[in-house]
Parts: sequence; C-alpha cells; structure tokens
Amino acid sequence: MTMTNAMIYIHIPFCDSKCFYCNFASGIYDDNTKKKYFDKLIDEIKFNATKDFNITSIYIGGGTPSSVDADFISRIIQVIKENYIVDKNAEISMEANPCSLSKEKLLKYKQIGINRLSIGVQSLDDNCLKLIGRRHTKKEAIEKIKLAKSCGFENINCDVLIGIPSQNYRKLKNTVKNLVRLKVSHISAYMLINEPNTLLTKKIENNEVKTVNEDKCVVFYDKIVKFLHRHGYERYEVSNFAKDNKMCKQNLGYWLGTDYLGFGLASHSYVNGERYFNTSNLKEYLNSDFNYKKHKLSNQEKIEERIMLGLRTKFGVSIETLKNLGYDITKSKKNELYMLKSNNFITINDNKIIVNKNKFGVLNQIILKLLP
Ligand SMILES: C[S@@+](CC[C@H](N)C(=O)[O-])C[C@H]1O[C@@H](n2cnc3c(N)ncnc32)[C@H](O)[C@@H]1O
Ligand code: SF4
Repeated sequence: MTMTNAMIYIHIPFCDSKCFYCNFASGIYDDNTKKKYFDKLIDEIKFNATKDFNITSIYIGGGTPSSVDADFISRIIQVIKENYIVDKNAEISMEANPCSLSKEKLLKYKQIGINRLSIGVQSLDDNCLKLIGRRHTKKEAIEKIKLAKSCGFENINCDVLIGIPSQNYRKLKNTVKNLVRLKVSHISAYMLINEPNTLLTKKIENNEVKTVNEDKCVVFYDKIVKFLHRHGYERYEVSNFAKDNKMCKQNLGYWLGTDYLGFGLASHSYVNGERYFNTSNLKEYLNSDFNYKKHKLSNQEKIEERIMLGLRTKFGVSIETLKNLGYDITKSKKNELYMLKSNNFITINDNKIIVNKNKFGVLNQIILKLLP
C-alpha cells in the first residue's frame, strides 16, 4: 500500500523585535511564556500523532524560530520523528533572522536535521532596513549567510521585499546582486504589503515615510525577474526563484494541493478536503484542548483553490484534476482558453494549463477568466 504524502507546519510566534510592516502572529514574550508554549506545542503534536502519512516536508516558521533556544527546536523535531513517519529525504526548513543566528545554533540545526534555511534579509541597504524596523545591517545579514554556508547549509532562501520606503531600483538590484554573489539557492521576492494595524501603515498615514509608487514596484519586479533569470534562478512561482531546481517543497506542496498538518498558534491544517483552524490568541492556545474549528471544502471551493494556487506555479493546473472535481474546463471555458492561448497568456501542455512566465503580472485577470 502506498502512503499519502503530507507535510507538517510548525508555528513559532516569537520574535526579538517587531518589524514595522509585519502583522504575522508573532510578538515579544518572556522565557516563561516560551516554555509554556513549547510544552503545549509538543502536546499538540503528540495529540495528533498518526502513521497514516509519509511526511515529505517539515517547515518551522513564525515569527522567528531562530530567536528561541535551539534545544526547543531540537525537541520539536524529535517529537515529530517519534510520532509521524518522516520520509528519509524530507525537506526540513526553518525560518531565521540574521540577528539571532550564531555558529553554535547553526551547527545544532544541522545536527538535528534541518536542511533548508529561510533567512529574512528583506534588503541589503542600511537605510531601507532602518525604515522598516529591521535590527540587522547589510553587513550582519551577509556575514550570517556566509556563516550558514560555512556550517554546511547548501539550501538557503533569502526573503527580499520590494517597495520598501526609500528603495529605488539601484538599491534593490544591489540587494539581489549581493545574494546572487553569495550563491544562495533560493530567493523569495515579495511586494511589501501595507498591512492594517502596523507601525509602517501608521507612519505612512502620518506622512512620516513615503511609499514607493505601485507602478514603479511592478517595473522593479519585472527587471528583477530578468536579472535573476540571467543568473540561473528560475521563477517557479509568482514570488519564488530557485537555482539548480532547489524549489521549496513545502510551498510547492501548498500550491499543488498536498495535505498538511499545522501545529501551533494561528496554524491550520488541510487533510482530506477539510481545513482545521487553530486559534490565533496565545492565551486561548495555551489553554486549548485542540478542539479545532473545521471547514469542509465544497467542490466549488476546491476547484477555485486548484485554479488560483496551481496557476501561480510553473506546473500550472491539471485539467484532469479539475475534471475529477466535476469541472470540465475545456468545455466550460473553451472560448476563454482559446483566447488566452492564442494571445500567449497561457500554454496547454501535457493536459495542464500553465500561465506563461511573462504574464504573471496579469495572473489575477487570467484566473478570473477561468474560474467556474
Ligand atoms: C516569518 S518572516 C521570516 C523570518 C524572520 N521572522 C525574519 O523576518 O527575519 C516571513 C517573511 O514574510 C515577509 N513579510 C512579512 N510581512 C510582510 C508584508 N507586510 N509584506 C510583504 N512581505 C511580508 C518577509 O519577507 C518575511 O521575511
Ligand atoms: S518580519 Fe519576521 S522578525 Fe519581523 S516581526 Fe515579522 S516575523 Fe518577526
């Protein structure tokens, strides 16, 4: 019998400081709260124990997992391995902030099986970093990437933000150029979103900082895509670029519909077409008996998700999968598909609809045309 593949996501809601733009479920807490949280997280991982899945990827995200004692992370991985079947080739990723990485921690991560690091670099321009409340400098970020490499990490992602106040194309290109020089295997380039209730949004509203014009950001993005392409980084998803095929298994899994189990504050799971939600209130989580809110996806919702997520990737959406969900897109959207194909917006290959890479800028419009 072949086992279904699945992935595990672990949320660590702790940071050493709160960046001005971020509204993720994360904050600054004392050691006692951290200890209680990890005890609860371990309870939750054990509570859901199952040997029904082959776990192909584990992703420890946050917040900032590197900000806590490495022994906490070690314990989490150990408990997962004791309670689930983890594939011997599983990707085990962890998010890190340059400020909290040290040689000692990195060697420990390596020893416990973490084989992919995702480092929040955001920018390699000191003024940009300051304006968004990052505590590290360009120098520190570069040093920590080099340190991670010297500790044996070959698979390193760096997050980069586009549209940081004061950013221009020269600053952005310099950031990406430095990362290319450092030969990181993966770059995630996100458009900065001005989230509600963040200090950055308040500063913008009070005219303390100026946003970068949206049209300019689109131009920056197009240029960066070309720059990365010239240097061997393939855009395999709207915001993600990989060298030597080092795509992030976990993110690909989300986009392509693999089941996943999420543990920790504000996490959610997707198993057998059903979504399970954890609370995003820390007090509630610490007292939780893991009685998750549930939502069974309707066929319509499944179809919409497949289209919206699949089209974000270079793998596209499978016509067969949609048919199995009751949506014969080749019949229902015959004219739209013909129009999109003949105008070079999409390719239909191997029974898959794939958005052409130079058309990701109009992805939303393409999706709207193809939704049932
Ligand atoms: C959990 S953090 C990464 C690790 C670590 N906490 C750090 O920041 O160094 C995930 C990533 O989400 C992105 N992000 C957070 N807030 C964002 C926003 N408002 N707009 C766009 N990207 C954002 C950042 O690039 C950040 O690195
Ligand atoms: S961007 Fe990362 S370090 Fe900054 S507040 Fe958000 S999770 Fe924490």
